[in-house]
Amino acid sequence: MPRPATKPLSVKIAPSLLSADFAHLARDVARVEDAGADWLHVDVMDGHFVPNLTIGPPVVAALKAVARRPLDVHIMITDPVRYARDYVAAGAHMLTCHLETQPEAIDLIRAAGALAGLAVSPQTDIAPVRELLPRLDMVLVMSVNPGFGGQGFMPEVLPKIERLRSWGFAGDIEIDGGISPTTIGDAAAAGANVFVAGSAIFRSPDWEGTIRRMRELAGNRLSVGASCPDAS
Ligand code: DX5
Ligand code: ZN
Repeated sequence: MPRPATKPLSVKIAPSLLSADFAHLARDVARVEDAGADWLHVDVMDGHFVPNLTIGPPVVAALKAVARRPLDVHIMITDPVRYARDYVAAGAHMLTCHLETQPEAIDLIRAAGALAGLAVSPQTDIAPVRELLPRLDMVLVMSVNPGFGGQGFMPEVLPKIERLRSWGFAGDIEIDGGISPTTIGDAAAAGANVFVAGSAIFRSPDWEGTIRRMRELAGNRLSVGASCPDAS
């Protein structure tokens, strides 16, 4: 049975460091934190589950050493069971693996001391997530095909978020891919409360203004309270 809400969910803006300057990660982390980031979204790709390679546990540990905000680590990798503990040990606050890989890794994540998230790609049915909800702190609904930043938002995934809330899920629902001031409102209205944005923030000339605007637009449309009845 999904856990009932203990407090209202808040809007969280999670800039994706995939769009940061990898030669100046510490600088960009500090700047985006000063600009109002709630979490720092870290995209881990293995060149197998997705056709791109990014960062491993040593880089997460290096980020943890300089970050003042929680690390929200999204592992797009084929074998999260093998690597989950390493990412928790490196400093992940939230660790999110994919339903399409080894969803049983969520139990390892929690046992290792982090919050556990489960991600679903755009073509993946959300139905199998329902029975896993009591073991999850967050569900990540992908609104682009995982692998690259800068892709177009896929509004057809929004009904998945509405279904999760209709099942009484009172945890965080994160949306990732193509989130910008143009798309964030509809995602919030569907029931998402954590918003990943890479290019929309890092490619904008005013990170602070963009984050503030996105927070306002999401807050105006957030429907978590209305659509999230007590799960009895
Ligand atoms: C895609 C990643 C996203 C990506 C989002 O596989 O999971 O986090 O960085 O980038 P934008 O916001 O540019 O779509
Ligand atoms: Zn991501």
